[in-house]
Amino acid sequence: MNLPLNGIKIIDFTHVQAGPACTQLLAWFGADVIKVERPGSGDVTRTQLRDIPDVDALYFTMLNSNKRSLTLDTKKPEGKKILEQLIRESDVLVENFGPGALDRMGFSWERINELNPKMIVASVKGFSDGHHYEDLKVYENVAQCAGGAASTTGFWDGPPTVSAAALGDSNTGMHLAIGILTALIGRDKTGKGQKVAVSMQDAVLNLCRVKLRDQQRLDRLGFLEEYPQYPHGSFSDVVPRGGNAGGGGQPGWVLKCKGWETDPNAYIYFTIQGHAWEPICKALGKPEWIDDPNYSTAKARQPHIFDIFKTIEDWLADKTKYEAVDILRKFDIPCSPVLSMKEIAADPSLRASGSITEVPHKERGTYLTVGSPIKFSDLKPAITGSPLLGEHSDEVLAGLGYGPDDIKRLRESQVI
Ligand code: COA
Repeated sequence: MNLPLNGIKIIDFTHVQAGPACTQLLAWFGADVIKVERPGSGDVTRTQLRDIPDVDALYFTMLNSNKRSLTLDTKKPEGKKILEQLIRESDVLVENFGPGALDRMGFSWERINELNPKMIVASVKGFSDGHHYEDLKVYENVAQCAGGAASTTGFWDGPPTVSAAALGDSNTGMHLAIGILTALIGRDKTGKGQKVAVSMQDAVLNLCRVKLRDQQRLDRLGFLEEYPQYPHGSFSDVVPRGGNAGGGGQPGWVLKCKGWETDPNAYIYFTIQGHAWEPICKALGKPEWIDDPNYSTAKARQPHIFDIFKTIEDWLADKTKYEAVDILRKFDIPCSPVLSMKEIAADPSLRASGSITEVPHKERGTYLTVGSPIKFSDLKPAITGSPLLGEHSDEVLAGLGYGPDDIKRLRESQVI
């Protein structure tokens, strides 16, 4: 298949999650992604959280599909020489090493730009250049705390809470992918490469935009009408944690359904969309609420919104989450069952769309992964298994002009 990014060669100097998520996405869309890994060990996720002894962990396989793997010790002179050759003939280098690691290796932006002025160098760091924390190494939850997500997530009587969603890692990788594609389009116009950087803090903050909105509203008004603290509780001068509140202009909450006593996910999310009040009343069998002045406007409902949610829970008590959603969808009410990972893994619609997909792997057999969440009319990415450590070293080096004897020698001297 002729894919949009065919012909784009990427040196994938990434590890763990943020960088690999970015380059995996670009590989799905046709880029030739060569993952450069340390000989002997490779990306640390190959061995982290293993479920099968001596087989690449799912942590690795689910973030590195459609790539090639080249082992290369880029601190050894011959390794550096090979990397230089690769840089000369590639389009993009992506890295998410700790601060300064690439410079210490001898591959500063200036040096790379000298080797190949068309090269795009894309980096993930915890904090942006010049930030007072720019020297910090960062993992997912550190970024969620630094980007405003943790202070605004959870319940008001509990501590700051991190999300299970990889807001710091994969989210930053997705931002970086947008940056790389933009730089590639820019290069078509100028003929020049450039440096693209996304910090994990910034990527989290970008998703917490609405909370900065709320801080400014709180500064001006002293309250936030859509938060559970309004109107009976109190506000301090910082955006509080709002539990499961809607967060936008639509009140919502996680509500219990039949079986919640034993099933931790027997819940739905229910949204009270302002203009959908009439269908909500009809769905709940409460036609008397439609014109009742205590219920008919969002402002009138807010003081007793939790009583309303309680009434909805009473209605839900004899319905499973699926039955409830099947009724509510007929009334155009925005809602969803709370789905467990087990349910998602088996979901026929997600399987049919390729959002959940099975991929063959040389050593582990078939594994389940998340496919492309981006759907195109003319492109359905074929997800292939992740590479074994160094699986493509010979092939890549042969492409650079190394013969079998050179490769043997490089292997013996642990350069590859
Ligand atoms: N050959 C030789 N050396 C290599 C190599 C290779 N193929 N690949 C990596 N290395 C070296 C690096 O040059 C670095 O050496 P140095 O510190 O002596 O200069 C060393 O390996 C360690 O790299 P580092 O990235 O600092 O690893 P770490 O395990 O100490 O830290 C992170 C891991 C994720 C905390 C850190 O990389 C980081 O903060 N990255 C930026 C933010 C980020 O992406 N976080 C994780 C998101 S999932």
